[in-house]
Amino acid sequence: MTPLALAIPARIDLFGEPKALWFINRASGLVLLVLLTIVLVFGVLAARKSAGGKLPRFVSNEVHRGLALTAVIFLIIHVISAVLDDFVSIDLINIVVPWGSGWKPVWIGFGAVAVDLLIAVIVTSLIRNRLPESTWRLIHLSVFAMWPIAWIHALGSGTDAMSPAYLALSIVCALAVLGAALLRWFKPEPVPVPQAETRGTRSAHDGGSW
Ligand code: HEM
Repeated sequence: MTPLALAIPARIDLFGEPKALWFINRASGLVLLVLLTIVLVFGVLAARKSAGGKLPRFVSNEVHRGLALTAVIFLIIHVISAVLDDFVSIDLINIVVPWGSGWKPVWIGFGAVAVDLLIAVIVTSLIRNRLPESTWRLIHLSVFAMWPIAWIHALGSGTDAMSPAYLALSIVCALAVLGAALLRWFKPEPVPVPQAETRGTRSAHDGGSW
């Protein structure tokens, strides 16, 4: 037990239900994974000038930011319920320092790495104005590493992870993230061609209107 764990009461039965924290932990983890998926997909759309076809760009932006904030709240609920639940031996330190928990250290460790990456993304977004754009972008793109790491954590430590419904949901989420990654790296937006050049190119290649 780490010194940090000493501050936490030995047993917390919410609503007189000894498993309440466990239910909260599972439910918040699931919601968190779905939220992070939507945040990532809308982040890719928001970054594209031609954002998602008919979807106005500010909508993708607002969804991206709003749901990112909601995800932080669910992350806090998820990790705190894990620490408070005395059925599993997880200390506060294990939220950010990987592979030291007393319960499923490898899988919980992946969760901690995902949290570390998320913290880096959140902090650099808050001080974005003070960072070189390339630094902010590089760190922000680490969400493409964070998401699969969180996914591995969920599959490895989740009680429901092997249930058909959970598997179906996590595969749908994985496909959405894969699609967003393909869009980001393999379908770059066309670079706008300056007006004068457009006219020149057109008349040279297709004869223009005459
Ligand atoms: C971005 C980071 C994280 C995400 C997206 C995430 C998401 C998830 C998901 C989807 C599950 C499966 C829930 C289920 O079985 O229904 C899960 C399980 C779990 N997570 Fe996380 N998690 C993260 C970080 C962490 C961290 C840092 C901890 C611990 C400090 C943690 C503790 C747990 C525990 C104990 C379970 C097992 C719950 C059970 O018994 O089913 N998670 N997580």
